[in-house]
Amino acid sequence: MMTTLTTFFARALGRCTDHACHTLLLVALACGLIAGCIGRPHDWPAAKGGKAMHRSDVTPLRQASAGTHRRIGTAVRSGHLTDPRLRSLVATHFDSLTAENEMKWGNTERQPGSFSLGAGDQLVAFAAENGMRMRGHTLVWHLQLANWVKDLSGDALREAMKRHIRTLVGHWRGQIAQWDVVNEALADGSDGKLRDSPFLKLGEGYLDEAFRTAHEADPEALLFYNDYGIEAGEGDAKSDGALRLCTRLKKAGVPIHGIGMQMHVDPRHWPTPEEIQRNVERFAALGLFVEFTEMDVPVGRIRGTLDEKLQSQRTITHDIVAACFRVEKCTGITLWGISDANSWLNDPHWGSLRGRGPHYPLAFDEVLEPKPMLFGILDAFAGR
Ligand code: G3I
Repeated sequence: MMTTLTTFFARALGRCTDHACHTLLLVALACGLIAGCIGRPHDWPAAKGGKAMHRSDVTPLRQASAGTHRRIGTAVRSGHLTDPRLRSLVATHFDSLTAENEMKWGNTERQPGSFSLGAGDQLVAFAAENGMRMRGHTLVWHLQLANWVKDLSGDALREAMKRHIRTLVGHWRGQIAQWDVVNEALADGSDGKLRDSPFLKLGEGYLDEAFRTAHEADPEALLFYNDYGIEAGEGDAKSDGALRLCTRLKKAGVPIHGIGMQMHVDPRHWPTPEEIQRNVERFAALGLFVEFTEMDVPVGRIRGTLDEKLQSQRTITHDIVAACFRVEKCTGITLWGISDANSWLNDPHWGSLRGRGPHYPLAFDEVLEPKPMLFGILDAFAGR
């Protein structure tokens, strides 16, 4: 794409006969290249933050958090493991690993009872080799779900759900420390109720059954409810809905141990650090661990120059991480991807959810150099 555009501009420049034409074309080219207003995600210039920041100068994140009881994680796709640079970066900086897609139903049980767990095995082995905690993601979710499940109901659906959970949790028993057992069960909008998932045909109790089945399959694993848009706290319908749900599950004696707040930041409307902290505190008060499970901070809709956007990203990130560190039961922060080259937000479909990009949402740029965001995390770890 970029090569094509460059060729187009070179040819057009060749045809220009006067100064005004040259100037116009060069301004258009500079606008495209610098502001990233042309080109697809992978053609965007890397967001380095304009400072000399090199991997060799930086304290590894996992080393910086080692004195705390918090984990710092990243989501990885098994395909990333074939790239030695990504392997090295992940092993150096992170001590927790989440399977970005490999453990989802649509990838693990495409046909009833026929399981493909090899890609997940690769991630689990990599985590073990590198002393990383493994987070399993995710067992019961309405997306990336095998189509055949959507046609089931009643006992057939219940049994399919239980077999799926038993098989995955049993397969990785003792190797996966935390499971996102149920993902995104709550509806968006103003009622804070459960969404119309294929699993809701079983009634609200599908959550209870999912957690109980997972617990039987691996009694040592910590079991999480995971969702997005539940970060804001009291008065926010979805946050309050999540609190009601967790309260109900705890009262019913369901083995739920944690709440995953995904922390996909939307800078256009985002709670203050104090609101996030108070929200974390109220889930912790239920006796739950809290983890920020899928953090990213897209900068597309933040105002200013690229440098200013990246500095704001650093501040937002710092404040979120610091909010976790102020609450004892907040035990981990996972970034949703390794570098700006590996984010789900590079997909135009998903990226547009956060407004116009480029979003540069992660702590390493496209050539794997550290960004200001990384220093925001390190500052928060150090209590600065
Ligand atoms: O595997 C196919 C591939 O065969 C095909 O060629 C390609 C063409 O687009 O698509 C591939 O599937 C993509 C899949 O990721 C694997 O890369 C899907 O299109 C794409 O939609 C899918 O996106 C994932 C998304 O979940 C699906 O909902 C993202 O990678 C993943 O980061 C994202 O993660 C979710 C969490 O699980 C839950 N919370 C929200 C978060 C962000 O959406």
